[in-house]
Amino acid sequence: MCGIVGIVGNREVAPLLVDALKRLEYRGYDSAGVATVRDGKLDRRRAEGKLANLDRRLGEEPLAGHVGIGHTRWATHGAPTEANAHPHFCDGVAVVHNGIIENFAPLRTALIADGAVFHSQTDTEVVAQLLAACRKQGMAPREAMQQTLSRLEGAYALAVLFDDQPDMILGARSGPPLAVGHGQGEMFLGSDAIALAPFTDEITYLEDGDWVVITHDHHEIYDHSGQRVERKSQISQGAAYVVDKGNHRHFMEKEIYEQSEVVSHTLSHYIDFAEGRVKFDSAQIDFANLDRLAMSACGTAFYAGLIGKYWFERFARLPVEIDVASEFRYREIPLAGRMAALFISQSGETADTLASLRYCRDNGLTIGAVVNVRESTIARESDAVFPTLAGPEIGVASTKAFTCQLSVLAALALIAGRARGTLSDEDERRCVQALVEVPRLFNEILAAIQPQIETLSRELARFKDVLYLGRGTSFPLALEGALKLKEISYIHAEGYAAGELKHGPIALIDETMPVIVIAPHDRHFEKTVSNMQEVAARGGQIILVTDEKGAAATTLETMATIVLPVLDEIVAPILFALPVQLIAYHTAVFMGTDVDQPRNLAKSVTVE
Ligand code: AGP
Repeated sequence: MCGIVGIVGNREVAPLLVDALKRLEYRGYDSAGVATVRDGKLDRRRAEGKLANLDRRLGEEPLAGHVGIGHTRWATHGAPTEANAHPHFCDGVAVVHNGIIENFAPLRTALIADGAVFHSQTDTEVVAQLLAACRKQGMAPREAMQQTLSRLEGAYALAVLFDDQPDMILGARSGPPLAVGHGQGEMFLGSDAIALAPFTDEITYLEDGDWVVITHDHHEIYDHSGQRVERKSQISQGAAYVVDKGNHRHFMEKEIYEQSEVVSHTLSHYIDFAEGRVKFDSAQIDFANLDRLAMSACGTAFYAGLIGKYWFERFARLPVEIDVASEFRYREIPLAGRMAALFISQSGETADTLASLRYCRDNGLTIGAVVNVRESTIARESDAVFPTLAGPEIGVASTKAFTCQLSVLAALALIAGRARGTLSDEDERRCVQALVEVPRLFNEILAAIQPQIETLSRELARFKDVLYLGRGTSFPLALEGALKLKEISYIHAEGYAAGELKHGPIALIDETMPVIVIAPHDRHFEKTVSNMQEVAARGGQIILVTDEKGAAATTLETMATIVLPVLDEIVAPILFALPVQLIAYHTAVFMGTDVDQPRNLAKSVTVE
């Protein structure tokens, strides 16, 4: 994730901006920059690599000014060069940005047609150009900001300077978080409370769609329609260098909300958003010369692997041998032939997964690891590391790590398909475009289904047993949904392949057993409808999680129907994870269990 900081101050801000950016280093970055406005002029210093390089530049060429913005960049569009580093300038406008402007290409084309000259490969520069164009038409900063935001699609957080506004910074949030910090005669903007901790602990988080004007002694927040709104301020816990909950009740809730940003960050490691292709050089495993791929993990990570199996076999025609790590090495799977092994682990320290890795390594296989902690044991003992860039996951119940794992596996399956010649250019572009839209869709779906699920969870909390059903890639999601519910609410829940219902579990069905059916309107939908009819015929209560097409095609009476947009098959499992996460979260909150630290559980199981 990129980092954003802004200061409307009463002292030299360049060193303060860099210090604040240093507190955002945990997010990962590959270049950085700061800009100030002074005497009607904008000026900036940028540097590739670590903040020490920027510090050095500032030492060589000090940057004066009491109002400025700063940024740490994780490259999505364009290489991590100084020319692509933020802040980006255009005719008296300076912009820093976190996230993805999905429609940057058509906007850039139109701006160039109007004579605009671009100096970077970034999507961000489009924002600076649009703001400058509005100013040329005589718009004041607020009007230019509102007009520009109305043209952007995607997930983004922004901070903006104007050369003729010596006491003003504008900010906007549509996805990645942005907070206002309240100081004494100074005001601040930051990606989170950690960045602002050196200046203030009084924080106001913007809500999705909000934009803000800050000056040294006041702030104005506007919603997406341009209406002035008030947002509550709070005293943050970000003072110490700890990951704090922001404006959420639990780390798990915060991490569910972070998925838009961290999935975008993870995808940018494997997808060239500008080209609309996968980054083939991120492969590290010679997929073209494999006969089979072994996969192993535990718990939620294992369910991510099960979904990955569908993708590798469908898009790359690569047979996958997968098992939970505690069983994997005892099966003594024949590991002969051209095989590689892929291990999935948030912590990178899970004992069973590590033992399976060592079993495969001792048998001469190439070892790959999908991990969230790069310096972990599993990462260190692998030949190829495929990072998830979820940031620290504090909640014991894994949420953002899971969807980041799925994002990596989806990208690897496409890369493998290209390497093996089983994926057409057209299909690759279609899948990549679908993945590019995931960060925005996370925010839209969250806003749409959260209130309904919060209400539903009060119903669900009454039951002692719940059954989850799914087919295809929704089957592992059914397993994950059952795991999420049981591990944080302590309600017994089981996940089953919907086709297996008739082979036993249907004996459980009556009005005391709610059945949560995960069923996007894909090629399995009709068969899953039959399963739902079997449940309804026995008095079972159905909670259907589907998409708009599935909802329109279903006449069955349900306890609730949770409706997502119609999604491409490769992104459906990533986004359908949201309702299963929210169902578990709100049910547990209603039941009063310890959501972040459920009884008996550890975040990383480092014993067998
Ligand atoms: C996830 O909700 C669980 N807490 C647990 O199943 C976890 O996924 C499993 O222990 C694997 O952990 P890892 O990803 O760190 O290897």
